[in-house]
Amino acid sequence: MILGSSTVIVVLFFLFHISALGASVSSRGHAAHAKRDDDLPARVPYIFPPPGTDPIADHIRSRRVNGTLLDLDGVLLNARLVASGWDDLFGIIRDNNTLPPTMRELFILRIAVLNEASYEWIQHEPVGRSAGLSTDHLRVIRFTPPFSSEKDVRNVLGEQLAAAMLFADWITKAVRVPDDVFNGLRKFLNDQQMVEATATTGGYNLVSRFVVALNVDDKMDVPVPIPT
Ligand SMILES: *[C@@H]1O[C@H](CO)[C@@H](O)[C@H](O)[C@H]1NC(C)=O
Ligand SMILES: *[C@@H]1O[C@H](CO)[C@@H](O)[C@H](O)[C@H]1NC(C)=O
Repeated sequence: MILGSSTVIVVLFFLFHISALGASVSSRGHAAHAKRDDDLPARVPYIFPPPGTDPIADHIRSRRVNGTLLDLDGVLLNARLVASGWDDLFGIIRDNNTLPPTMRELFILRIAVLNEASYEWIQHEPVGRSAGLSTDHLRVIRFTPPFSSEKDVRNVLGEQLAAAMLFADWITKAVRVPDDVFNGLRKFLNDQQMVEATATTGGYNLVSRFVVALNVDDKMDVPVPIPT
């Protein structure tokens, strides 16, 4: 088949637009293969200042994998001071605590399940796996009904992570954490770590409410994935 010159012009025009789109996406600082988001619309526009143009965005980049802003960051940057405070607080919660990394990621993933925050789960499932959570752990975190302290749960998670999951359930669903649940976790953690555990679970309840209410990456109505 021979293409007419007008068809070629249309095709060239189209290709130009695709490559222009590619350039604006990579100004977020990532190559297409490294994407963790689908970039579907949220309830506010994404703001992605190019690298070197906004110190707050650049600081967020510095603590993201591969220096890439997430769709979450693009939503936060509509309110720059909120984005900056969020960066400080969650940088500390994520990177400057003394909790076992499996426990920290269990808290985050469990809260994603309880609040049906699929975006939070999708971002953290790979982090949880690299911290040491197995598919069996992830399935217990995904499927166990709230407030369960069944022996099966303890058999798979071990006593320490099971105590952590119960703590996450109570602080998320009931706010008020009963003494036996608090003391159950206290057996494994010192005072500093109890404060870090409470800041992590409280903080990721903020994250989940934020990503759901603003429909970050259009994941509000997507079910939390099933780990395989
Ligand atoms: C980071 O970049 C590497 C190399 O380009 C890539 O293999 C990896 O998937 C990226 N990770 C994330 C989470 O984007
Ligand atoms: C926080 O953690 C990061 C990453 O591990 C580290 O580079 C930094 O020094 C820590 N900050 C403090 C104040 O401990």
